[in-house]
Amino acid sequence: MKLRRSSSVNDNVPFRSCVSIFSLVLLCGVGTLFPRVLPAQSKAPRGKTVASSNPLESPVLEKKVTELLQKMTLEEKIGQLVQYSAGQATGPTSGRTEDKDMIRKGQVGSLFNVTGSRETNALQHIAVENSRLHIPLIFGLDVIHGFRTTFPIPLGLAATWEPELVEKAARVAAQESSAAGVRWAFSPMVDIARDSRWGRISEGAGEDPYLGAAMARAFVRGYQGEHLDSPDSIVACPKHYVGYGAAEAGRDYNTTEISEHTLRQFYLPPFHAAEQAGAGTFMSAFNSLNGIPASANPFTLQQILRKEWGFKGFVVSDWNSVAEVMAHGVAIDGATAARKAFLAGVDMDMVSNLYHRNMMQLVQSGLVPQAEIDEAVRRILRVKYAMGLFDHPYTDEGKESAAMLRPENVALAKRAGTRSLVLLRNEAVSGSPILPLAAKISSIALIGPLADDAGNMIGSWGALGRGEDAVTLRRALSQRLGDSSVHYEKGTNILDGSDNDIAAAVQVAQNSDVVLLALGEDAPTMTGEAASRAWIGLPGRQQELLEKVVAAGKPVVLVLFSGRPLTLPWAFERVPAVIAAWYPGVQAGNALTDILFGEAAPTGHLPLSWPRSVGQEPLYYNALNTGRPEADPAHPPEAGEKKFLSRYIDEQNTPQFPFGFGLSYTTFSYGPTQASVKQISLSALERAFAEKSKHTVVLSASAEIKNTGTRAGETLAQLYLRLDGTSIAMPVRMLKGFQRFTLAPGESRKINFDLDAETFAFWGAENKFGVEPARVTIWIAPNGAEGEGATLGIAGTSR
Ligand code: BGC
Repeated sequence: MKLRRSSSVNDNVPFRSCVSIFSLVLLCGVGTLFPRVLPAQSKAPRGKTVASSNPLESPVLEKKVTELLQKMTLEEKIGQLVQYSAGQATGPTSGRTEDKDMIRKGQVGSLFNVTGSRETNALQHIAVENSRLHIPLIFGLDVIHGFRTTFPIPLGLAATWEPELVEKAARVAAQESSAAGVRWAFSPMVDIARDSRWGRISEGAGEDPYLGAAMARAFVRGYQGEHLDSPDSIVACPKHYVGYGAAEAGRDYNTTEISEHTLRQFYLPPFHAAEQAGAGTFMSAFNSLNGIPASANPFTLQQILRKEWGFKGFVVSDWNSVAEVMAHGVAIDGATAARKAFLAGVDMDMVSNLYHRNMMQLVQSGLVPQAEIDEAVRRILRVKYAMGLFDHPYTDEGKESAAMLRPENVALAKRAGTRSLVLLRNEAVSGSPILPLAAKISSIALIGPLADDAGNMIGSWGALGRGEDAVTLRRALSQRLGDSSVHYEKGTNILDGSDNDIAAAVQVAQNSDVVLLALGEDAPTMTGEAASRAWIGLPGRQQELLEKVVAAGKPVVLVLFSGRPLTLPWAFERVPAVIAAWYPGVQAGNALTDILFGEAAPTGHLPLSWPRSVGQEPLYYNALNTGRPEADPAHPPEAGEKKFLSRYIDEQNTPQFPFGFGLSYTTFSYGPTQASVKQISLSALERAFAEKSKHTVVLSASAEIKNTGTRAGETLAQLYLRLDGTSIAMPVRMLKGFQRFTLAPGESRKINFDLDAETFAFWGAENKFGVEPARVTIWIAPNGAEGEGATLGIAGTSR
């Protein structure tokens, strides 16, 4: 088993691997407005769901905060703005060692990377009993996809397209981490990412704002639960605000240039959804955004987050990102960096020590108004009160171990693992698709460096997840078929290998009926933070192993473990079955064998576009059309054809697999999309949009879906929209809804999506969110590239 935590101060420190009736009414205008409210599934609720009960908006709590603030010295106030890592470093360290003394003096507001009820209680006792005003600490941690019960990585969770399931997973993470004294998760990562070179694409929900927003809400609800002050609720921290996922060339921490329109239309919606779901904190990002570091950016932090959205919680910087304002080049000394970050709206300084060191002087010299300090402290105390930390600062040490890995939670992890797997290919071998495999196979060759690597199943950032808790493919297969039927040969390591090992694997393949190949990336070193790749194929000698094993002539199933799509054109042409497994978590092997042997059918769908080659990146389905679109983007130009089109001369424009793609063990046909109206009047739409709930149905779209196969199966019907003739160019398609249906073999069903006014709203050329006259195309489709659309118009003149 690979070592997944570095030797460090505290034995309990977490690790990051170093851790849906077509209406026949063709009416116009107001008459087309159906006084109905949308069904929960086709439109994930978007309202400020916890607003009325938002604990951060309680007058009682505000009074308490005011009273406490009045008692605080400036030093104590500044202390609340300071956060340190008390355990294993997850970034460059400040070298500070005097935690306990600082806690006593009220100079620290938060610690992170310390876990375990005993450890957190010990530190909390110092804060609550020995500091003058008894203000509790808030303990944070990178709880990314589970705490001890590890779920699939966030990209895998997004591939489920099941926010309800993700919410449950986040609840489990909250229960476990709170039992270990951690009441604050630096999660969800809601960065839109369009470039698979970026290692952190693994930590988010992919390239789409609608799906991203659904996942963001799910995480926040799961973490924060019904009541934020319940001892098993933890505060969410959507990150990294904002634009971090647009790092140029996919290189981590790199510069981002994002127009205000693009920012609002694509990058902000998941953050806004998280804020509306009640997230108590936000984390400011590392990147510079249009030249301004995100951690010193008043436009995003003050104007958008606080003024436009009304966020009442607090903002913590990312690791040392206050100091990095200097490296970005907009401050030449620590004091200026601290001042710029703070005045821009970063309340809490993670690790850099610059608030601790400079804030007193900055206030005394008038460079930072005391009133601004009071406001920042107010935001932090508000969250601490809302969590119930003042009333219940400690964790029940007797309950910690029983909270971990509860059987029902492990079962949920298995379900999440199963639902996260995306079947990319399943070609016929001897007349029928290779998957599912026959229940009784006398001899199966299991080959590859990821077939029996428990640590890797946890992913790159598994909090307290342990490899020893994880079931590998080898273990699950042996349990199912018996050791004598499973012939395991590693074949190669992830990064290096020998001729002999490859030869041994080929031999095992030759002597077996079926070959299972488990290939991919090394999660800790090749995925996640600071793990950008310029080449996104199989590392080491794995491609060679793959080709030689396939040459052995046996049916091959390739299981890919990765934190990103891998460019494998050879495999996608020659290997009959391919599953994108991501990193499935503690139940990896069991989730996979259930799919492989057909006890469960694959239901996962891609949350991103899967590239053919790295040169296509950034690649995303919701792109603009350009002035010279290629009408047939799947075909590279041939001699004599029109040359001056937007395409590559040496590669197709299309992805290998489109956004939303995923096969099942049956097949479905999607009939043409039909719209209940041919025209919507702009004024009616504007009126509906102006309504408070914005959820009045303005149009219904429907399509007939048929299970054309021989097995029952589930399909994920996706609703896409295109707007033409608008003030600003809009994408060729935008996801606006999805629903799941289970159909019996041969069964047909007409499925329906009810669309509200907000569905048609977008950020226009003047950066105002609203509706405009447009030609509308709507598709109900099995993925982002298919479907037969319906067109209609939004007619009228804007008021
Ligand atoms: C990462 C954040 C993380 C923080 C604390 C940073 O390096 O960018 O995502 O929450 O470290 O560990």
